[in-house]
Amino acid sequence: MIVFQSITKRYTKGAQPALDGVSLEVHAKQFCVVLGPSGSGKSTLLRTVNGLVRPTSGRVLVGGTPVLPRTTKIIRRRVGMIHQQFNLVPRLSVLDNVIAGALPVVPHWRVLLRRWPVSLERRACELLESVNLKPAYLQRRVSELSGGEQQRVAIARAFIARPDVVLADEPVASLDPSTSRTVLALLRSAAEQTGATVLCSLHQVDLARAFSDRIVAMRAGKVVFDGAPDLLQKETVSTIYSDGGPKSARETELLTESKRPADTKPESNAGSAQQMAAAR
Ligand SMILES: Nc1ncnc2c1ncn2[C@@H]1O[C@H](COP(=O)(O)OP(=O)(O)OP(=O)(O)O)[C@@H](O)[C@H]1O
Ligand SMILES: [Mg+2]
Repeated sequence: MIVFQSITKRYTKGAQPALDGVSLEVHAKQFCVVLGPSGSGKSTLLRTVNGLVRPTSGRVLVGGTPVLPRTTKIIRRRVGMIHQQFNLVPRLSVLDNVIAGALPVVPHWRVLLRRWPVSLERRACELLESVNLKPAYLQRRVSELSGGEQQRVAIARAFIARPDVVLADEPVASLDPSTSRTVLALLRSAAEQTGATVLCSLHQVDLARAFSDRIVAMRAGKVVFDGAPDLLQKETVSTIYSDGGPKSARETELLTESKRPADTKPESNAGSAQQMAAAR
């Protein structure tokens, strides 16, 4: 489904390349996690798939179509994206944000009047239900939602145009560990239901092992491991995160459990219920 052929990306002449000769084939329906420390090239790799980053050399193909300036429009209809910071429009409703994922295929007049086809509204509702957001959420402003709820809206948005591929760039980096697991499980289940191929960057080894079919680990722009999650040895993880010196506390944390503190509002059913009651 996604083919990377000897991809090199050099943002600045003479500097170390962000991607250094990456060749990979991600098969249809695979849930492939790209793992690696900060600066290893994960986002750059993902962004070459929808043309947000143009490789300096090499080619990327999505479903056999090369990603080029002239094919970007077609490619973006087939590729959904989920971002670390959700990238939703806070003042718009949950429903409008989900439907925004289908804008490339919605006529312009409908966008101006915000009059959506019934079929699209129905699909948005189904997707929101599949990520466990109740119908009462449809007309709520996104700015009122917790981080976990917002990321669930972002998942629904990414899947609304029935994409072949979904790119998820550190989709749980702003969430607490328990919400991260919920969100990744929902992402995985949405992918299974729709048959989409997922390329998801993460830096938590435990989450990569728990949710992927395949792990591609990167270091300094190169692939240093590519295989099934249970084949990823602790020693390999040490190599990926080692900098030649003693391990930092951060790296030790990455090697064990993800103990990232919650830096967004924690998910709380009680909180949501109160907000829904207040909104009524
Ligand atoms: N627009 C840019 N201009 C110049 N250099 C860039 C740009 N984007 C990324 N880089 C550099 O390319 C390298 C890889 O960056 P990238 O964002 O792909 O890493 P990453 O693995 O996603 O890191 P993180 O986990 O911090 O998100 C880094 O050295 C980064 O500084
Ligand atoms: Mg990144």
